[in-house]
Amino acid sequence: MSEALKGKRILLGVSGSIAAIKAPRIAALLKSEGAEVFCAMTESARQFVSADEMSVATETETITAVFAGQPSPGPRIQEAVALSTWHVHLARSADAMLIAPCSASMIGKLRSAIYGDPVALVAASLPRWTPLVLAPAMDEEMWLQPAVQESLAWLRGHGALQIGPVKGRLASGLIGMGRMPEPEDIVREFATLIGNERDLLAGKRVLITGGPTYEPIDAVRFLGNRSSGKMAAALAMAARRMGAEVTLIMGPTAIRTDGLAKRIDIETAEEMLAAVRAKLPNADIVIMNAAVSDFAPEETLTSKMKKRETDGDLLIKLKRTPDILSEIAHAKRAGQIVVGFALEKGEGSEAYARGKLTEKNLDMIVLNDMAESGAGFGHDTNKVTIFTRDGDAKSLPLLSKDACAVEILRHVAQVNKE
Ligand code: CTP
Repeated sequence: MSEALKGKRILLGVSGSIAAIKAPRIAALLKSEGAEVFCAMTESARQFVSADEMSVATETETITAVFAGQPSPGPRIQEAVALSTWHVHLARSADAMLIAPCSASMIGKLRSAIYGDPVALVAASLPRWTPLVLAPAMDEEMWLQPAVQESLAWLRGHGALQIGPVKGRLASGLIGMGRMPEPEDIVREFATLIGNERDLLAGKRVLITGGPTYEPIDAVRFLGNRSSGKMAAALAMAARRMGAEVTLIMGPTAIRTDGLAKRIDIETAEEMLAAVRAKLPNADIVIMNAAVSDFAPEETLTSKMKKRETDGDLLIKLKRTPDILSEIAHAKRAGQIVVGFALEKGEGSEAYARGKLTEKNLDMIVLNDMAESGAGFGHDTNKVTIFTRDGDAKSLPLLSKDACAVEILRHVAQVNKE
């Protein structure tokens, strides 16, 4: 049993997906971890699980409507219960909210500020930094809808956290992406995400780099990589939630971080270096998560290269880009913490990571093993091992990038204390 949920007031939102049949188990697990649970349900959720079942699991009356018959969720908000403003008081008294399952419609409603049901209404009333965790569940085609993906990306860019979905058997009988993880996994990840760390990095200035770099070949072509920036955005979100002030220097990605950090968008390794140098004096912790291109074309054409101007094949001479991490780690001031990432594959990875830790003068290195399924570029999950200067190594299980970010920052906070 983790301590993270003990004594916490958790709002459990249940929306209309067949995965709602797992909601009583989620509520029971949250309770068994010592949390106080209030449940709000949409009308569609009640097609799959009854309000009575949820009331039994939470040991308190379930909220099923925006206006009538609200429960009494504790002395602080007792007077408000009879009022139509119950959602404000309930949301303000909560430590976190979990919407599991979170249907495609719920994602769309939250994105579009359509707060006509009790789940969306209470979620909309959460104070800005109270964690809102979404566990999407739907059929694969719905999951892949651009409107769903775009809405979820927007919500994440404004601080919502996400658990799952995973690939597996869906309600339709098909196998695909969109299945809600099992209640045990959801509650474990939820506990990690909301933890006890609201003040863990209070007042710290954290500088994070993320995404790829694009090194131009000519006016339209570039040398780049597939980094999505998801891990950096998750780190920014977790650091912000732990009380840090976050600056994010990002290569070209589609990821949104609108409300999370001061963001500086760059394209090339040289531009990233300049931005990092400019921000470095004001940083207590530097996390270099960017997949910086190690090489760039020696020359860049200002116009578009024509194939008839080459004779057959094309040779592009590449030059090394500056090793930003190494430069700043060797020049770091006392007390400044520098964290690097290493993307390796299979055997020998650990030795490489440890080697980079010392060679580059880092305080910590996070190893991503590309050989692990679900880890690395583009995925929503990651599997990492964290190495620190004292020789310690901690292997984490496959986690959502959000949970992974929390674990990494916990280690950073620990190094900061030592
Ligand atoms: N990095 C950097 N500047 C570069 C290249 C990488 O700051 N020009 C940073 C990355 O942000 C990451 C770490 O260095 O934190 C990765 O280290 P690196 O040794 O470059 O990794 P690989 O490119 O994977 O190294 P190798 O080619 O040796 O496998």
